[in-house]
Amino acid sequence: MTLRSVVIGCGHYLPERILTNSDIEKIVDTTDDWIIERTGIQSRHIAAEGETTSMLATRAAERAIENAGCLATDIDLIVLATATPDYTFPSTATQVQAALGIHSGAAFDVQAVCSGFVYALTVADKFLISGSHKRALVIGAETFSRILDWTDRTTCVLFGDGAGAVVLEAQSGKGTLEDRGVLNTVLRSDGRHRDKLYVDGGPSTTGTSGHLRMEGREVFRHAVTCLAEVIEETFAQTGVSAQDIQWFVPHQANRRIIDATARKLNIDPAHVVVTVEKHGNTSAASIPLALSTACQDGRIKRGDLVLLEAMGGGFTWGAALVRW
Ligand code: ACO
Repeated sequence: MTLRSVVIGCGHYLPERILTNSDIEKIVDTTDDWIIERTGIQSRHIAAEGETTSMLATRAAERAIENAGCLATDIDLIVLATATPDYTFPSTATQVQAALGIHSGAAFDVQAVCSGFVYALTVADKFLISGSHKRALVIGAETFSRILDWTDRTTCVLFGDGAGAVVLEAQSGKGTLEDRGVLNTVLRSDGRHRDKLYVDGGPSTTGTSGHLRMEGREVFRHAVTCLAEVIEETFAQTGVSAQDIQWFVPHQANRRIIDATARKLNIDPAHVVVTVEKHGNTSAASIPLALSTACQDGRIKRGDLVLLEAMGGGFTWGAALVRW
C-alpha cells in the first residue's frame, strides 16, 4: 500500500474591488493596449483597506473545506504560502487556523514567492505520505497590492490580490500513476538571482515592508528556461509526456511566459488553464485560484492528470504532477 495525498476539495476568494487597465492608466503612464500586449492582463482584484492576507485565505479555505465535504476540525495540518503575511509573526497560517476554529494539529507558512503554492503542496504531501497527518489545507494567499510601488509602471500593472486553497487527504493507492493524488513533485532554487526580483525591505534590513523591484526582461528569460527544465524533469521521473496531461495549470505571471513554455514543451494550448487576464499575477495564490476556477467551471474533473508549475523570486521554481 502507498499513501497518496488526494485533493478532495478546492476553493478560492477574490476581493470585491476590480482594478482595470483603464483605472491604472489614471495612476501611471501606461495604456490598456501596452499591458494586454505584453502581459495578457486586463484586470486584477485589489484587497479593501483592512482586508488582510489571512482574511482572503480564510474565505478560500472555508470554500475548499465545504467543497471537500469535511469539517474544519478534520484538518490537522495547514501549510500556507505567502510573501505578504499579515505580520512578521505569528504566521498567517496560525491566523487562519484560529479563524477556522481549529485548535489542534500544526500550521505554518512557506515562503517561496510565486512558487509558494508548489512548495507548500510538496511540503504537505511529504507530511501526509509519511503518515504523520491525515488531512491538510494547502493555501496560497497574497495581498501584493501592499508591496507594490504604485509609481513604478514596470511592476504595478502586473500583480493582483487573492487566495486559493485545496484540501488534501491521505488515502491509500497502488503506487502507480493511475492513483489519485500528488504523483510527483520537483523543487528547485538558486539564490544567486536575488537582485532580479526582490522586495527592498524587511524586518532585519530596513525595518519596513519594502516594495517589489524587478528586472522584467531577465525574469522572463529565466522563467521560460527554468520552467521547461523542471517540467522535463517531471516527465523524465514519471514517464509521463505532454500528451498524457489533461490540464496544464501554470503560475499565472504573464500570458507570454505561459504561451512560450507551453510551446517549448509541445503542450496543446487547449489544455492550458489561463486566468491571468482577470486575476493578474497573484503570486502564491495564482495556481490554486486557477485550479479552483477550472474545477468550478467543469474543466478539471476527477481522474484528470494535472501538471502545475511555477517560478518566482529567489529564484525558486518547481512542478507538481497530480491526478485529480
Ligand atoms: N506601460 C507602458 N510602457 C511600459 C510599461 C508600462 N506599464 N512598463 C515598461 N514600459 C516601457 C519601458 O519603459 C520600455 O520603454 P523604452 O523602450 O522606452 O525603454 C518599454 O516599455 C519596454 O520595456 P521592457 O521591460 O523591455 O518590456 P518587456 O517586453 O520586457 O515587458 C514585462 C515587460 C511585461 C515586465 C516583461 O519583461 C515580463 O513579463 N517579465 C516577466 C516578469 C514577471 O512576470 N514577473 C512576475 C514575477 S516572477 C514570475 O511570476 C515568473
